[in-house]
Amino acid sequence: MPAAARDKDIEKKLESLREKIRHHEYRYYVLDDPEISDAAFDVLMNELKKLEAQHPALITPDSPTQRVGGKPREGFVKARHSSPMLSLDNTYSEDELRNWERRVHELSGRKDIEYVCELKLDGMSLALRYEDGKLARGITRGDGSEGEDVTLNVRTVRSVPLSIAREKLKKAGIPTDFEVRGEMLMPIPAFKRMNEEREQKGLSLFANPRNATAGTVRQLEPSITAERRLDYFAYMLLQNGRTYFERHSQTLDALEEAGFKVNTRRKRAKTFEEVWAFIREWEEKRDSLPYEIDGIVVKVDRTALQDELGYTGKAPRWAIAYKYAARSGITHVDDIIVQVGRTGKLTPVALLQPVPIGGTTVSRATLHNMDEIERLGVKVGDWVEVERGGDVIPKVTRVVEDTHHPRGHKSFHMPERCPECGTKVVRTEGEVDYRCVNANCPAKLRETILHFASRHVMNIEGMGDALVNQLTDRGLVKNVADIYKLTKADLLQLERMGDKSAQNVLDEIEASKKLPLERVIFGLGIRFVGERTAQFLAEHFGSMDALMNASEEELQQVNEVGPRIAKSIVEFFQEPKNRALVDQLEKLGLTLTGKKKQRGTTLAGKTFVLTGTLARHSREQAKQLIEDAGGRVASSVSKKTDFVVAGADAGSKLDKARELGIQVIGEPEMEALLGG
Ligand code: IVH
Repeated sequence: MPAAARDKDIEKKLESLREKIRHHEYRYYVLDDPEISDAAFDVLMNELKKLEAQHPALITPDSPTQRVGGKPREGFVKARHSSPMLSLDNTYSEDELRNWERRVHELSGRKDIEYVCELKLDGMSLALRYEDGKLARGITRGDGSEGEDVTLNVRTVRSVPLSIAREKLKKAGIPTDFEVRGEMLMPIPAFKRMNEEREQKGLSLFANPRNATAGTVRQLEPSITAERRLDYFAYMLLQNGRTYFERHSQTLDALEEAGFKVNTRRKRAKTFEEVWAFIREWEEKRDSLPYEIDGIVVKVDRTALQDELGYTGKAPRWAIAYKYAARSGITHVDDIIVQVGRTGKLTPVALLQPVPIGGTTVSRATLHNMDEIERLGVKVGDWVEVERGGDVIPKVTRVVEDTHHPRGHKSFHMPERCPECGTKVVRTEGEVDYRCVNANCPAKLRETILHFASRHVMNIEGMGDALVNQLTDRGLVKNVADIYKLTKADLLQLERMGDKSAQNVLDEIEASKKLPLERVIFGLGIRFVGERTAQFLAEHFGSMDALMNASEEELQQVNEVGPRIAKSIVEFFQEPKNRALVDQLEKLGLTLTGKKKQRGTTLAGKTFVLTGTLARHSREQAKQLIEDAGGRVASSVSKKTDFVVAGADAGSKLDKARELGIQVIGEPEMEALLGG
């Protein structure tokens, strides 16, 4: 074959592979509904990479292999918007919203106005320009007329198409040169994971997903942007700076058809009542979303009417944001104290003037560590903004400083000695955290007892903060074995303890002795040994005695136990005090033996979530089968989930799985994975 013809052939092959991969990226990242497994996808991608490596001259910028490219930069170049990127006016009450609706009626002189309601996503707005169907530029909002060119970072976001085939655009009714505007955001699971990693590395933390999004989009190093999972939802389509379709609802449908991610949680409404119902609905379901929203956007559907209504200085009259109650508040830092955890870690905590935030009263907020305090620059006496995210614990996000909120003066210093026991505090070279290393520190003891008594461990109801504080303060409990030596007389001398409650506590303690071996292992508080590892250890060794005498090598035979955990277990049992403690627990009648169990390995390392009603198995049966095959069943869907098994009437977990792009399977596929 002549060289030119062969090149054409390879080019064709490359293009068909790319189109296949684009399709699967779309199924996974836009629809959250993949058709093939991750492994099968990797095979395709590797094939493309290999072929491109052999023919580097044929690599195109819109190839799926080219999402991450370019060198780190020194800064961003400014870029002008085709038309101003406006913001929205806000309303905070039903009355204000009704006023807006009335004005729309008055100004337009019409009665029958259709609206589109959308979620107000809490990220940052971003314009994408496409030329000849290919992503040419991504621009931040900036001051509205001029933003920053962040194209290289935008290219790494998998739900942003790098190119869209001509026919596809044609079918959607979109010209080949156009502009999309929409919201870039970081889903909550990705946000949490990123902050956890940053904390481990001793880096400063992002206060909320919105800040994290902005920080990630403005990263100078595109490969870092690529690692953090951003998502992009489109909500506007322009040509030459003007709205293209006759209706906003058409725009959304067309964008969807062209392969953009458009929020499916949207609604056309004809009356105020319908708009209001949508607002109420999502206020309630807000916490079930995998990303943060701060309200609802209501838009007039007809473009002609939008043009008629026009704009005020910086916002359209044809759209309005209804903002949900703030999840943040401003309050005073009365003091900064230090809490000592079970592992001895010292955590600075801000004691706040109580402030209502999104339905609860917040009077404390974690400051994480010394680095975080320095980043915020917070002092005792400052006024601060406190935020409470979807399911995130309250956090101080910034220090407020203006005429009404003067600065505080008292700097916080990590104490040199543990506030609980007075032992010198240690900060290991290269670590962020300060620790109390006294094994007998009362704070550690308190936290250890609380852990031991908690629901997932020995489930001793009634043994909470109040009781444990008194028991440890009075020296009645010096280790977990002492719990089982408590008498009624001991309990009756405590505050708020009558005969009946004392008896209840004793009954609870007695009942806990029957709980299986894995609970006791978990309860010992061995570093890195969580609930699941404890269960594997119990099943593998069948007794505390065998576990106590296992070598690091033997321990590493156990599912999911690596060198780090093995070492920690051996060290724990090398300590004579700990061995004596186990002896005591045995004499006191706790369950220290169990059944050995051999698990299969077919599903080792795979995490499942069950939702809905299965036809052939109960939830419990399905869970058992998966676990027997070495898999794991979690109660909620996260990025770590491998499969969601959906039965009839599956609910929000299924939505979440789609949102995160987790593979959803039915009962038959589950059975197939189990091996028939
Ligand atoms: S439309 C001219 N729709 O909210 C209309 N904005 O407070 C421009 N936002 O800057 C915006 N979700 O970043 C629109 N569904 C949505 C939105 C949305 C979030 C953001 C956007 C805008 C800000 C205004």
